[in-house]
Amino acid sequence: MTSREIRQQFIDFFKSKEHRIVPSSPVVPFDDPTLLFTNAGMNQFKDVFLGKGTREYKRAADTQKCIRVSGKHNDLEEVGYDTYHHTFFEMLGNWSFGDYYKAEAIEWAWELLTEWWKLPKERLWATVYQTDDEALELWKTKTDINPSHILRFGDKDNFWEMGETGPCGPCSEIHINLTDDYDNPKYVNAGVPECIEIWNLVFIQYNREPDGHLIDLPSKHVDTGMGFERACAVIQGKNSNYDTDVFTPLIDKVAEISGVKYDTEANKIPMRVIADHIRTLTFAIADGAVPGNDGRGYVLRRILRRAARYGRKLGLTKPFLFSLVEVLVETMGDIFPEIAEKQSYIEKVIKAEEVSFNHTLDRGIELFESIIADLKADNKNIIPGEDVFKLYDTYGFPVDLTNVMAKEKDFTIDEVKFTELMGAQKQRGREANKDKFASVSFVLNDLSAFDISGDAKSEFTGYDELKTKAKITGHKKDEDKDLVILDKTPFYVESGGQADDLGKLYINSNPFNVIDVTKVEGKTIHVLENENDAQIVTGAEVLAEVDSVRRWDIMRNHSATHFLDAALRKILGSHVQQAGSFVGPDRLRFDFSHFAKVSESELADVEALVNEELRLNIPLTHHRDIPFDEAKKMGALMFFGDKYGDKVNVVQFGDFSMEFCGGIHVRNSSEIGLLKIISESSSASGIRRIEAVTGAGVEQYINSQLLSIKTSEEKFAELAESKRKLEKEIAELKMKGKLSQVDTALAKFTKVNGIKVYKSKVAADNMDELKSFGDELRNKIKDGVGVLAAKIEDKVGLVCIVSDSIIKEKNLSAGKIVGDLAKIVGGGGGGRPHLATAGGKDVEKINEALDQVEKTVEKWIK
Ligand code: ALA
Repeated sequence: MTSREIRQQFIDFFKSKEHRIVPSSPVVPFDDPTLLFTNAGMNQFKDVFLGKGTREYKRAADTQKCIRVSGKHNDLEEVGYDTYHHTFFEMLGNWSFGDYYKAEAIEWAWELLTEWWKLPKERLWATVYQTDDEALELWKTKTDINPSHILRFGDKDNFWEMGETGPCGPCSEIHINLTDDYDNPKYVNAGVPECIEIWNLVFIQYNREPDGHLIDLPSKHVDTGMGFERACAVIQGKNSNYDTDVFTPLIDKVAEISGVKYDTEANKIPMRVIADHIRTLTFAIADGAVPGNDGRGYVLRRILRRAARYGRKLGLTKPFLFSLVEVLVETMGDIFPEIAEKQSYIEKVIKAEEVSFNHTLDRGIELFESIIADLKADNKNIIPGEDVFKLYDTYGFPVDLTNVMAKEKDFTIDEVKFTELMGAQKQRGREANKDKFASVSFVLNDLSAFDISGDAKSEFTGYDELKTKAKITGHKKDEDKDLVILDKTPFYVESGGQADDLGKLYINSNPFNVIDVTKVEGKTIHVLENENDAQIVTGAEVLAEVDSVRRWDIMRNHSATHFLDAALRKILGSHVQQAGSFVGPDRLRFDFSHFAKVSESELADVEALVNEELRLNIPLTHHRDIPFDEAKKMGALMFFGDKYGDKVNVVQFGDFSMEFCGGIHVRNSSEIGLLKIISESSSASGIRRIEAVTGAGVEQYINSQLLSIKTSEEKFAELAESKRKLEKEIAELKMKGKLSQVDTALAKFTKVNGIKVYKSKVAADNMDELKSFGDELRNKIKDGVGVLAAKIEDKVGLVCIVSDSIIKEKNLSAGKIVGDLAKIVGGGGGGRPHLATAGGKDVEKINEALDQVEKTVEKWIK
């Protein structure tokens, strides 16, 4: 039977038992802050078990995508080394919500395994919780299992819990013993790969509270989970999950690209790691997660790097993981269409992350080698914590990688120092991240040092008002600050990216500045400046007033992020998902998943669309405290990774935007004014960041831009003026240089009838220049005649001057002389007696014309 058939038979079986077949929920949980990734089929029904939510049906079944890499259920380190643990797996499950209970759960599980799938009964074992006589009895009466194959186990094996808190209860597991010694109880729960659990039937009846207590749930439920990959291995008679058709296409592809065979254990381990991890990466990215620096993103980054490192063991040093996505799409894309729809996006995210890891890895390895060489030279064998930290911080080396590499060289690492440096860095990060407007950052862990009166509840009034009359219900002095809890407060504490409110508390009409707010145990702590050391006591009446200018700016920016989100999805596509945001009074920052740089024109379209919508005067519809399911049904957009309680708020602006959001918003889109995007950049691989301003921020932005334009214009005018001056100076200098040619003409002269004749060929750019040379010559001679000739753009230019005395005495005229000379060069001209110019076209006759000067002068004297 193929894995596909096995999955389908499970579904068909429970359909025949009147179960509603439901889709898998995303691996990135949207409604549970206690979980990083979906880790069991029951996650999506947690609210039903807790009696907080309902469904239209009382029985359900599905195949659920699960990731177990953190928290209570974490299999990461096993993966690759054994044949039956995975970071990603499918959990086949069936549920009863206050409907059937242990009897049917046990009976049907047995029926499916032994009648539909024909598993050998003699190899099957059942375990029950140590005190669960009822389940033990049911196994005996409802099935034909060998009664000696029913075993009791304690909390560790037979009490299932979702996490540190949440629904839980005793369970009954079914194991299969594939050893030859299958009638021997010693293999069950002993960690033997040939004897593994395949199905867990949980009888949910308690909730684990945060303080560790168990409380009874309103109803009793059934929650079962069968490891699909293990079921496939057992039914297909394989020793390893990786030998089933769930994994062989992936393993084959890895073998193909690496040229390494899946034969020895040394080869099998990296191949299993890769085949496993690519599934986690593909499904997590499809559901909205991205590799990054913290939380879920960091887990993914580590998984990707683990896979890439194991790839190196197979000689795969270039990015290769991304090329495996295709195999998954081919084998699972019809069951989970999200991976097919987002294939190219997933590939791009993975590839970019591989490229950047390879880059840091190569540089880090160089550094590592040089550290080792230095230490060896000093006869040392412990890598200092500072170096481990540098490898981590600058080169992205996870400490376990450095550890492994160190071991290979017979070195150890100073992990204590490393941990200390990590702690210091985290503290720095916290300080740097704090909104710059909040000047103080109080780190409070509990309220034990507070003087608390009554139950000190602290109701938030800030959705509706900025000023609230309240009473001090808790107080603590902290040097020159007072920390105050009120029964009611309009002050918003940073959450969902929206910055803290600041403002004033009036106590007995005395104003105190609220310089920071923070939340501890659900209560808002107002941090007051108390310079005069005034007496503040619990029970006092106060007027709490939020700085409204700041708050309005924050609200405008916050609402604008919703418009931005919607516009980005419209312009760039629905793969865009919010990856984080910060909403301060002066600007907003919005991070979102998108692979490429957002082009100028896309940005312009996004901005234009937002502003068009803002002008439509769309009123806010604030759905407050509605059930989570209702919000989901309405189609409200969820920000993966945000925390949502059972009751949620949905912020809606007409048809354009509807999002889950606990923040505070403008009443109408037009109150935002205008949105102006001021930058677009990369924030992490696959994540872009937009910064923008709204309202008064736009005004300031425009004014500062105008100011800088004006300053530039003034600068420009200054530069133009100085350029003009320089050009003039240059022209004058050039002219001076050129005029010196006149001196050459002056240096020698001939005489015709006692009249001095000066002549020369000069270089001139145009007739005006030549004319000014003539003027210069005329100024410099007292008496005489001068002729200058130049070649000007393939033509001949001539100028003739006659000094005043010669005009008078000899009646000589420059016009007449130059007219004769011009004829020689094939042209004509003339002018007044003292200076005349002429042109001609026969350039080669310039010298001839100059030769004829004396004769011409002589002719006109006569
Ligand atoms: N929720 C149970 C499990 O995960 C079925 O094992």
